[in-house]
Amino acid sequence: FRTLDDADVASKRVLVRVDLNVPVDNGRVTDDTRIQAVLPTIREISDKGGKVILLAHFGRPKGEDPTLSLGFIAQEVASRLGKPVAFAPATIGPVAEAAVAKLQPGDVLLLENTRFDKREEKNDPDFVAALAGLGDLYVNDAFATAHRAHASTEGLAHKLPAFAGRCMQEEIEALAKALEKPERPVLAVVGGAKVSSKLDLLGNLVAKVDILVIGGGMANTFLAAQGKDVGKSLCEHDLAGTALEILDKAKAAGCEIVLPVDALAATEFKANAPHRVASVDDIKPDEMMLDAGPASVENVVARLKDARTIVWNGPFGAFELPPFDTATVAVARAAAELTDAGGLLSVAGGGDTVAALNHAGVADRFTYVSTAGGAFLEWLEGKPLPGVEALRR
Ligand code: 3PG
Repeated sequence: FRTLDDADVASKRVLVRVDLNVPVDNGRVTDDTRIQAVLPTIREISDKGGKVILLAHFGRPKGEDPTLSLGFIAQEVASRLGKPVAFAPATIGPVAEAAVAKLQPGDVLLLENTRFDKREEKNDPDFVAALAGLGDLYVNDAFATAHRAHASTEGLAHKLPAFAGRCMQEEIEALAKALEKPERPVLAVVGGAKVSSKLDLLGNLVAKVDILVIGGGMANTFLAAQGKDVGKSLCEHDLAGTALEILDKAKAAGCEIVLPVDALAATEFKANAPHRVASVDDIKPDEMMLDAGPASVENVVARLKDARTIVWNGPFGAFELPPFDTATVAVARAAAELTDAGGLLSVAGGGDTVAALNHAGVADRFTYVSTAGGAFLEWLEGKPLPGVEALRR
């Protein structure tokens, strides 16, 4: 696909799709990773004399919804960019057109939430045409929304000369290194609460990676399927058959599956709940496994030392409740140290995962942390991402 290296943006109106769907609490942005990630693209186009017209969604509005307006985000972008960002309270139509007409080379404008118009998510041709009329070129820098085939993420790429922005380019290159042409052995960590939400992901990974570490609540479903008593632990007992199928598939593909051998077991689900280190063969009927235990961590770290690539999605335990963050923090730090030492390429993504790595204080020591949640998962599942595919033509 073509990148900004191939685009002649000077004096052009450049429609730039970004992902500004950031977490907000009481009007404050609590994590600005996604804003920071698109600054290089905005700066580059602006510095080259392009007129930057930002397109973004926020939340999942059903029609126009003032509580989901992007107005306040314009200032958040401006303060980090170090230059003004104008805001148009419309996505298409006369108000948007007038705001675009006012732009001078180098100026930056943010249009209103693309999802205020129902036609955005339907990838409606008339809406695509109305958006396309506002620009001369299209740059997609929203990897985190690339799993959606919407007007601003997919349709526009067929209407205007289309290019990948720097964040998009970096994401695609980092992910390709991790799973398409990785240095082996490749170790994947998949954690999180439920097997049911990650079936496709596990199925795809066992065929691609050398070692698959299963952690979090979903590990309990595998342990139960192997006949272990998991007590009151989170467990999808009805998925025992599916879990065994995944184990068989892994065996056939030569992928080693690593499950916990011990756990921090407690009878209450709360921070600092009294707990003990217990073998997975010795969980009492009233106990829950809330984190992987020390022997499990040692197993994972030992394999990590031989690995050349790690792909991580999902925490090991209930990492928001200390001390049940212990295994996640320990493995994350080991991965960061091995990355620092130069022997390991480390890639992580998915909402909880990034929060967990930040909590461990190591996110910036990983080789690459994706800005994406759902799009990262779909990529791990091996699914084509419409926003990326449309750029590949
Ligand atoms: C995300 O936050 O993962 C992206 O911005 C996509 O949002 P969506 O799941 O509402 O499409």
